[in-house]
Amino acid sequence: MQDTLEVEIQEIVDAAHRYQQCLDVEGTSGASNGVVQPANLRESRRALLETLNKWKLIAAGPTEQWEQTTINYCAESCLNWLLQFDIPRLVPLDATTTYSEVAEAAAVPEQELRRIMRFGMTQGLFSEATPGQIVHTPYSAAFATNEDYRQVVLLQTGFFSPMMKCLAEATKAHDAPSSMNTAAFNIAMQTENSFYAHVAKTPELTKRFGSGMRFLAGADDTSPKFLVEYFDWTALGNAHVVDVGGSTGHISAALAKAYPALTFTVQDLPPMIAKANVSQLSPDISGRIEFVPHNFFHPQPETSRDADVFLLRMILNNWTSLKCEEILTNVAAIMRPGAVMLLNNFMLHEPGTVGKRAEALERARDLFQMAAMNGMERDLDGWNELVGKIAGLRIREVIRQPGSSQALIVVDKEAS
Ligand SMILES: C[S@@+](CC[C@H](N)C(=O)[O-])C[C@H]1O[C@@H](n2cnc3c(N)ncnc32)[C@H](O)[C@@H]1O
Repeated sequence: MQDTLEVEIQEIVDAAHRYQQCLDVEGTSGASNGVVQPANLRESRRALLETLNKWKLIAAGPTEQWEQTTINYCAESCLNWLLQFDIPRLVPLDATTTYSEVAEAAAVPEQELRRIMRFGMTQGLFSEATPGQIVHTPYSAAFATNEDYRQVVLLQTGFFSPMMKCLAEATKAHDAPSSMNTAAFNIAMQTENSFYAHVAKTPELTKRFGSGMRFLAGADDTSPKFLVEYFDWTALGNAHVVDVGGSTGHISAALAKAYPALTFTVQDLPPMIAKANVSQLSPDISGRIEFVPHNFFHPQPETSRDADVFLLRMILNNWTSLKCEEILTNVAAIMRPGAVMLLNNFMLHEPGTVGKRAEALERARDLFQMAAMNGMERDLDGWNELVGKIAGLRIREVIRQPGSSQALIVVDKEAS
């Protein structure tokens, strides 16, 4: 045990050393403290947190885990409270303030504010280095300077969290997870609507999801950069891409910018296509992207028959396997041999093959899909099984995002 502990401690020292070296290079302010940070710093932070997390799990027994659960649920509610009252924006970025000043500006009782902020300080939000004098930390300042970050955390703490708490009720309410409207989300929100329909009908959520999408597009794990850079689009020449469930065209636009020889048809449900606006695309790409309303549970239009690529990005994780089979069958039916289907999704690693913190983040996405719409994230076996069910389709190649969880599954149609 002694030897093992010493080896593990050396691991922490090494990880901390690498993190410090990155901070020395990048500096400790500006981009280093922002939500978007240099890749080397992000990697060294992740490595250090992974090692510390391993130690946290070694050190904590059942009692300490129970204590941690207490901290976790308070931390989530405290964060939600601070963001709902926009407290980070009421603390100056470069000066101190007092509880009474912030309480007055936020129109909240000072005593409640003080108690909640002091809990927040145990979680890295704000600091009270001199009694009664409050200053920002980099974490709390990020909410003051980046509204998308504030909105996305409000979404997590105010919408996703209550939804996740209904997982057990959802399991009791349905025998098999085959229906969209028996998900934990339906129970939490007391609605028959699907997740996306509910979001579309709730202006506050629509706004928060817009922020969420912008935020995720900038985060390296979820950025379209992987799709743009890790597939050989140039080799396709003058190719036509059908972007199935392509939303308002942001992915096609990113690809069109990078590859002038490509043209695109973006398909989505009519309300989403109605929001898409060709005139807002820059002139260099606007002539190469068209928008067509199409429900992917219906057969593809004949106009798709000549397409070279069918892109399904972040679509199949939203649906049960049976529904995914319908979507894939509709695309496969119109694909000509030689055309390619690109599935850009997350791919779960095998259990225990990445650090527990990294695996927890991947599996959190999977549980989110379960709770929101009875969807799921899949591992390689899961993708093989799904694609293998569609006659004529064959996975040609799987490209994984280095050090992260996106994957690009290249699917061919065999000549019949
Ligand atoms: C998670 S978003 C992915 C959007 C885009 N592909 C991306 O990677 O950012 C899922 C998309 O599927 C669309 N969608 C949901 N049901 C659909 C259906 N039955 N037919 C077509 N599109 C649908 C939604 O409107 C939404 O734009």
